[in-house]
Amino acid sequence: MTKRTGMRRGLTRYGDEEFSLYLRKAFIKAMGYSDDALSRPVIGIANTFSEFNACHGNAPKIVEAVKRGVMLAGGLPMEFPTISLHESFAYPTSMYLRNLMAMDTEEMMLGLPMDACVLIGGCDKTVPAQLMAAASADIPAIQVVTGPMLSGTHGEQRVGACTDCRRFWGDYRAGRIDEVEINQVESRLVPTAGTCGVMGTASTMACMTEAMGMMLPGGATIPTVYADRQRHAEAAGARAMMMAKEGLRPSDIITPKSIANALRVLLAIGGSTNGVVHIAAVAGRLGIEIDMEAFDRMGEETPVLVDLKPTGQFYMDDLHRAGGMAPILRELKPLLNLDCITVTGRTLGEEIDALPAGHKQNVVRPLSDPIHSGGGIAFLKGNLAGDGAIIKQSACSGELLTHTARAVVFDSLEDLALRIDDPDLDVVADDILILRNSGPKGAPGMPEAGYIPIPKKLAAQGVKDMVRISDCRMSGTAFGTIVLHASPEAAVGGPLSLVETGDTVRLDVPNRLLELEVAAGELERRRAAWTPPPGTQPERGYAKLFMEHILQAGEGVDFDFLVKRPYTAKTP
Ligand code: FES
Repeated sequence: MTKRTGMRRGLTRYGDEEFSLYLRKAFIKAMGYSDDALSRPVIGIANTFSEFNACHGNAPKIVEAVKRGVMLAGGLPMEFPTISLHESFAYPTSMYLRNLMAMDTEEMMLGLPMDACVLIGGCDKTVPAQLMAAASADIPAIQVVTGPMLSGTHGEQRVGACTDCRRFWGDYRAGRIDEVEINQVESRLVPTAGTCGVMGTASTMACMTEAMGMMLPGGATIPTVYADRQRHAEAAGARAMMMAKEGLRPSDIITPKSIANALRVLLAIGGSTNGVVHIAAVAGRLGIEIDMEAFDRMGEETPVLVDLKPTGQFYMDDLHRAGGMAPILRELKPLLNLDCITVTGRTLGEEIDALPAGHKQNVVRPLSDPIHSGGGIAFLKGNLAGDGAIIKQSACSGELLTHTARAVVFDSLEDLALRIDDPDLDVVADDILILRNSGPKGAPGMPEAGYIPIPKKLAAQGVKDMVRISDCRMSGTAFGTIVLHASPEAAVGGPLSLVETGDTVRLDVPNRLLELEVAAGELERRRAAWTPPPGTQPERGYAKLFMEHILQAGEGVDFDFLVKRPYTAKTP
């Protein structure tokens, strides 16, 4: 073993390296390790178990399996904790803390002696944070996810978080179900530990990670409770050992072409809009820019193949039974960059060729008979989109894809909460709802508030969808005609800051346009009169760091001091 591997890596600085090693070994021997164990390559395992995080409820079992794989391959597994984030247990929003988790993970990967690292994530922000960390630390790393939950039942209906959470809540708000039933539903929506059982952000990121080559084949869709989840983890541990020997690094795997593969899969699975922000953040760590116009063109030739909620009918356990990523990658093969290297050391093309034979199923459609032909996510330009906004067109109501109407503006999340259900709110079904000051700085943390609720009085009349526009994000489990990520955000003077209730707004998705139909002179007058919203200058702590360094959606909402700039490459 060379001097800088295993326990000799990253020695604490006392001015005497042999003393540092001696002291390190003295302490670690208190954990019962032998000299033989301490002479092995060290594989770090980032354990994100937390009693606040049901999506990672099986992390201890995965850690155990990864350790088994590492030891079978002759290495020493060393588990370490990092921040764990769950969507419903993070104030003000998990996105606010994603970069903190990425920093924690990166510094632990670099500060602890490990020759490779197995990253165990799952819930929406955890996999992006770990991939961002891996890209920056650039030591051999492999991603394992906790896996999706199983679907459950409420009466005769199948249910699973969290598309059904929203559907039932909409029914409750509209008076279609009562308090007794909503309480029953609450106990049924999440029947097992694991990530949301639909094509939300967690499932989207898992599929994109596998397509990008940072996960062993087949790992994205195995449900949390299946024995295969443990076997996959064991294999990842063993493979991490080989990667440590080979020196295969994230920067060998995460390239413009492999990111394009991940984006292609995002479109084909009808994935979460959050996938765009997170992959931009991962790419940005390696100086790679996402070409959003190329992404939009990619959408035109990449139909939605996967029939999963929130846009389709099935759940993640159905996708796994249908073959998981295998049928998706097989169908997409002519459109993918097959020469990209993966964590296996083989190319994506070689892995696709080695996939098990498919079987009859109805969850993943062939390219010739897609669910939606026009691409899942469209990139909008225009004077109200600024540097760009996105819309998940596969989740839209077809009749609203082209819509011109009056704007009804909410100035903040607080304003929205205060007025949206006011019976006297001046709003009709045809109006366009706008929420501003809810972006990276405005909220702060760019929360998933873009799924603006239908005003109660309209919901009671049976209105299910309206055009909604914001500078924040939307949960991947949500659906509707919803424009997101308008940037720069309103809190820094972006275009949404200039809209007034009563203005005419034009959404034209087929022509990729989002326009505010107000004369240029009037817009100039409003721009000159604009002042930043109060409360965006915290005095201390992480809030101060966040506000001073957070970037906009197009740059992945990363911190300016963590990205690699200038960009040195662009996605094809
Ligand atoms: Fe964790 Fe949905 S809340 S994946």
